[in-house]
Amino acid sequence: MSSTTKSITEAEIEAEFSHHDPTIARINNGSFGSCPKSIISAQQQYQLQFLQQPDHFYFNTLKSSMLNSRKLIQSIVNAENVDEISIVDNATTAAAVVLQHITWSFFSSQFQPGDAAVMLHYAYGSVKSSVHAYFARAGGRVIEVHLPFPLCSNEEIVSEFDQALKRAKMNGGKIRLAVIDHITSMPSVVIPVKELVQMCRNDGVDVIFVDGAHAIGNVEIDVRDIGADFYTSNLHKWFFTPPSAAFLYCKRSDKGSNVHHPVVSVEYGNGLAIESAWIGTRDYSAQLVIPEVVEFVNRFEGGIEGIRKRNCDMVVEMAEMLVKAWGTELGTPIEMCSSMAMVGMPACLGISGNKDALNLRTHLRVTFKVEVPIYYRAPLEGEVMLGFVNPITGYARISHQVYNTIEDYYRFRDAIIKLVNDDFTCAILSN
Ligand SMILES: Cc1ncc(COP(=O)(O)O)c(C=O)c1O
Repeated sequence: MSSTTKSITEAEIEAEFSHHDPTIARINNGSFGSCPKSIISAQQQYQLQFLQQPDHFYFNTLKSSMLNSRKLIQSIVNAENVDEISIVDNATTAAAVVLQHITWSFFSSQFQPGDAAVMLHYAYGSVKSSVHAYFARAGGRVIEVHLPFPLCSNEEIVSEFDQALKRAKMNGGKIRLAVIDHITSMPSVVIPVKELVQMCRNDGVDVIFVDGAHAIGNVEIDVRDIGADFYTSNLHKWFFTPPSAAFLYCKRSDKGSNVHHPVVSVEYGNGLAIESAWIGTRDYSAQLVIPEVVEFVNRFEGGIEGIRKRNCDMVVEMAEMLVKAWGTELGTPIEMCSSMAMVGMPACLGISGNKDALNLRTHLRVTFKVEVPIYYRAPLEGEVMLGFVNPITGYARISHQVYNTIEDYYRFRDAIIKLVNDDFTCAILSN
């Protein structure tokens, strides 16, 4: 994507996000993303156009605008053909499209009961549910790849994935589906997706679906280079669209030609991209603002690539500042961070389960006005047996987006230091 050399000012960035609650240190862009004011205005224009003259909008604007959006995404992710890019509501919908499609292979006896799907244990909840609701329900067997955390290197991921593929193929088993995250959600780790896709290809896996929900605007995506059959990314997380929009890349091939949207409309049979562009009367405005988003990101030096590089640099700097202040460590090496990083929290906070992690998150929001998700990591058996005093069990997933300031992270740092100094433990919150 081309980018201009002129650069948006700090004051302009502040104005673009002035609708954010100013009392909150929002270091959680990863969950719901963010949308600048200029894009909200553009969205409202589309909404108004529809309300002013719906028939004109339907017959003369909707299809051409959707095609524009798809062409822009095609160029950003390097898809060969615009027909390979559909715009859907979100990654959850994209997973439903792919999983429903795969289910038909069981009905047509192309796949047999007991055939396997492989996915990461850290796969996102809704995607895991889709694998169970469609693939397992049709008779498939699901194999989860467990990854250690903290993680030290890509080799650990590759090795665990390789072992899972071997397990799935034991006694002549067939692997029909692999679901691979590009960036896992919790804990957040950039996965060596191209390498894992290649391993699946070498092992004859029939369908490869990459869940890149966090990817566009956060890491580079080249769908041809990655080589999966399907690839989705939310546009509302790191690409500044309003909620909700995602793209689904569906490689042009025999496998892809019979893919349908689960919500069937009059466009049924006209190809997934056209089907997805009309799933009945509704508000499509979030999907139409991609040209305005491209204009917005090009106001930043280096465009979207510049944004993601600066976000990654800043989140790493902030993560290192926090672990230094708290005497803890990062959950992954910095090369495995995107615009999100996993920051170890002081063990004395006593985070001893998912409930504690959620309670602490709420406490930070309510008492300190810090919004940050916390991941609970159960201590390893060895750590307990060897009598490690207080291994780190809580990791904060911090995000950096263009609107964040250093003060947001200082507030988080100081809140935790205060809790430690006050002898706070999570047990207090569960009473
Ligand atoms: C890795 C991953 N996949 C899928 C999703 C689902 O996204 P959505 O709720 O927008 O459908 C998320 C949401 O955070 C995610 O992190």
